[in-house]
Parts: sequence; C-alpha cells; structure tokens
Amino acid sequence: MLTIGVDIGGTKVAAGVVDDDGTIVAHTLRPTAADRPDVVADTVADVVRELSQGRQIEAVGIGAAGFVDETRSIVRFAPNLAWREEPLQKKISGLVGLPVVVENDANAMAWAEVRFGAGRGQSHVICLTVGTGIGGGIVFDGRLYRGRWGMGAELGHMQVVPDGRLCGCGRHGCWEQYASGNALVADARDTASAHPERAEILLGLAGGTIEGEEVTEAARRGDKASLDAFASVADWLGQGMADLAAVLDPGCFILGGGVSRAADLFFDRTREAFEERLTGKGHRPVADVRLAELGASAGLVGAADLARRR
Ligand code: BGC
Ligand code: NA
Ligand code: ZN
Repeated sequence: MLTIGVDIGGTKVAAGVVDDDGTIVAHTLRPTAADRPDVVADTVADVVRELSQGRQIEAVGIGAAGFVDETRSIVRFAPNLAWREEPLQKKISGLVGLPVVVENDANAMAWAEVRFGAGRGQSHVICLTVGTGIGGGIVFDGRLYRGRWGMGAELGHMQVVPDGRLCGCGRHGCWEQYASGNALVADARDTASAHPERAEILLGLAGGTIEGEEVTEAARRGDKASLDAFASVADWLGQGMADLAAVLDPGCFILGGGVSRAADLFFDRTREAFEERLTGKGHRPVADVRLAELGASAGLVGAADLARRR
C-alpha cells in the first residue's frame, strides 16, 4: 500500500510516496511561503497531485510544526509559523480528494524514528527535533502520546528561565529559546557584540548577519564564541532531558532536526550534561541518547506511516 507523506517547513514543502516498509519510492521538494496559509495549502495539493500521477495512493499524512487538534485536522496554533485555527485537513482533502491526516511535525518524526530508525525495538522513546525550535515526540509502548486534546509533547515550551527570552509562542523563557538552532544563533550574536575578541573567526566568516551555518563553521575552526554557543545549547538540552526523565523515565532519547548536522559539536556534551543532571543518578539506569537516523525525511516518512494507520 502506498501513502504520501508531506512535511511542511518554514520555507519548503518536502513530500514523498512511502511504502509499508517506510521506503520512499518517489520524492519532491517545493519552496513555499509559510507566512501565507493558502499558498501552503495549494503547494501541498500540487505536490500530492504530482506524486499521485500513475499511482494508487490510499491516504496523505501531513506533518505541521504546530499544535494540531485531537481530530488531527486543524492546526490551532503555530508558534513559529502563521497558522491560527487553520483547517488544513479539510482544505487539502477538498483539493486532492484523498483521506488526509494532519500530525504535529515532531510527532511524525518520532514515529518514523521508532518504526524505521534509531528507536527500532525501543519501548519508551522521547524524540527531540532541534531546529528553529524544539519539537517533541513521545512514543511509549508502541503508541504515540498525543495528550487529551492532541497537543501533548510540546516539549519546547516548558519554561526554563523565568522572564527569559521571548518565545514565538508569546511567553518568555521557553526551553526552545535556549536549546535550539535559534538559541545557538542568539547566543553567538550576544557574545559577538559583547566580546568581539572571542568571535573573530565568526565575525570574519559572517560579514553582516550571523546565521547558524556560520556559527557551525566558525565553531569547527575553533571560534570561542561559537564553541561557547554550542556548549550552552548542549547544557540546556541535557538539563531539559534530565527533567523529562524525571517525569517520564524513557529508555531512549533520540536527537534529530537541523542542528543534528552539527552533532560533532554538541552531541557528546549533551549526553554528559544529561547524565550529570539526572535526578537519582547512580541509583537508576541511564537512558540511551542516540542520534536520529532518518535525517531530513523522517517527518514525511512518519506522516505517511501514520496516514496508513489512520
Ligand atoms: C512548535 C511545535 C513543533 C516544534 C518543531 C515548536 O515551536 O510548538 O509544534 O513541533 O516547534 O517544529
Ligand atoms: Na509534538
Ligand atoms: Zn514558547
């Protein structure tokens, strides 16, 4: 049976036809305007039509970076995108004439990693996608945890710093403002303006504005401000994971998302920070910390598989 999975990002839509084994048999990528919900819906419908040509497609799964309601139809709120009460399921199924399931993007990634990637065979998995924000997905005993109203596992919005940095959700001090790709850039920019002598390599590379790629490159070349930024993100990640372990006692954490391309710069320190801060340390087993295996296609593979099981 074939289903289509669609992952809607801030600047592009990635979609693929996926078989029962999680294999992508066809793939396509389109730019989109995430600040224009109607353009996004049209782009998604377009890619679905394109991928359906000459194929028997059963259903479409869509991963969206926001709070999806319990009927898996409406994106009610998206901290980093323009969706507010967006009836994505209705729009897309109306346009393409296929059953459509909408899922939180990080839930979809977590599902894919547990079914086909780094979490195979694991019973208690927490997946964290570290990109613009932090996405969370919880898969326990083979089931995706959605909470009462579909909005469970919004792990990036735990408040870790009272009155801290402003978050896209409108509140202050959320975890994703301290342990994400955005946090990395914010940290590096702060240091570069307060202590430019620690950021010579970074400033040389960046020219005008500092972005994530430059922080990564500068860190690899030994830039102090950039290395500090990675260390801070790793420590905050580890701290949050220790807190999550206190609540949920997972057997395994999986780290994925855009920032995992720089895993060499933060992964070991994250694991160390997690182990060091774990409550009851020395008197409990320590959860595995693993890197995601499915890369950028995890979201669409997971969405497609969830659509198949709708
Ligand atoms: C959103 C989540 C999303 C995550 C990753 C967060 O800001 O609240 O819904 O899963 O970013 O995209
Ligand atoms: Na989630
Ligand atoms: Zn927030």
